[in-house]
Amino acid sequence: MNGFQEIKKKLRSSVQDVNLLIGINQDKKRNKMKTTHRIILGDALKVLKKIPNKSIDLVFADPPYNMSKKKGLGWAYSKHITMQEEWDIFSKDDFFKFNKEWIKECFRVLKHGGSLWVSGSFHNIYKIGFIIQEFHPDTKINNSIVWFKPNAQPNITCRFFTESCEHLIWASKNGDGKKWKFNYQWTKENIEDQINPKGKQTRNVWNIPLTPKKEKWAGVHPTQKPFELLRRIILSCTDKGDVVLDPFVGSGTTSAVAKYYGRNSIGIEKDKKNLPLLKKRLKEEQKTSDNTETKIIFEEFKN
Ligand SMILES: C[S@@+](CC[C@H](N)C(=O)[O-])C[C@H]1O[C@@H](n2cnc3c(N)ncnc32)[C@H](O)[C@@H]1O
Repeated sequence: MNGFQEIKKKLRSSVQDVNLLIGINQDKKRNKMKTTHRIILGDALKVLKKIPNKSIDLVFADPPYNMSKKKGLGWAYSKHITMQEEWDIFSKDDFFKFNKEWIKECFRVLKHGGSLWVSGSFHNIYKIGFIIQEFHPDTKINNSIVWFKPNAQPNITCRFFTESCEHLIWASKNGDGKKWKFNYQWTKENIEDQINPKGKQTRNVWNIPLTPKKEKWAGVHPTQKPFELLRRIILSCTDKGDVVLDPFVGSGTTSAVAKYYGRNSIGIEKDKKNLPLLKKRLKEEQKTSDNTETKIIFEEFKN
């Protein structure tokens, strides 16, 4: 086999790998798109390593923020208690190492021109920004978005200002000068809130209330993101049939939004107790925006 044939064979098998993993399925006879949604139960650091290079169009990561306390704070006036999740507690060094590792894997699996979105608070977002800028010179930060929460929880200690926003970084992989996907016209016509009038350029400050009760119909996850937040991200940076990956999928918001809008998805989640919630939120028979058929796969990661 000459060099050219070998490269061709390699390329063909890596495309097959991706399709196998994601299970992309297009019914060519009926020319009908079917999207696939795979939930992999396992540690993101291990699972990511099995995802082929340059196979993903968009990564949305809502990682641990390292903001939990071993003993949460509560107060008499509200049911709210500060976060005390075990998965959200790291030492300073471990936290840096962990972030460095998953970010490296996410950029590896992204296609050129693909996007990485990461959500955070002041606890983690500066570290994330530092890691992207310091260790990934072939990427570009396009925006940092402030997600303003008009109904944020009160400050329990009364010794600080009330935290009423989260921060999101949008970075793209453009080492070879490749431009990223941004559905500019869609954003103008489809993003609207008190800060962003319809028809105008969308600002980098988004006004989105906390996840409403009606979106928590399937059960409780302490950090379930609003559908609207993911709708904005996924629809501005992908097209139908693209592949979205969430390495910390939690209750499955990213997969649910990708599924509804005709994108394929892979979600990774370490904690098995989220499985019932994920199973309820992701069902083949649920309605999608334009009746795209869906296939849902749940599997446990085996090394
Ligand atoms: C901030 S939550 C994500 C919430 C999600 N965006 C949603 O809307 O439901 C982070 C999730 O990552 C999971 N997690 C933490 N460390 C992980 C790891 N190393 N690999 C996979 N999942 C992990 C946690 O169990 C938790 O469910």
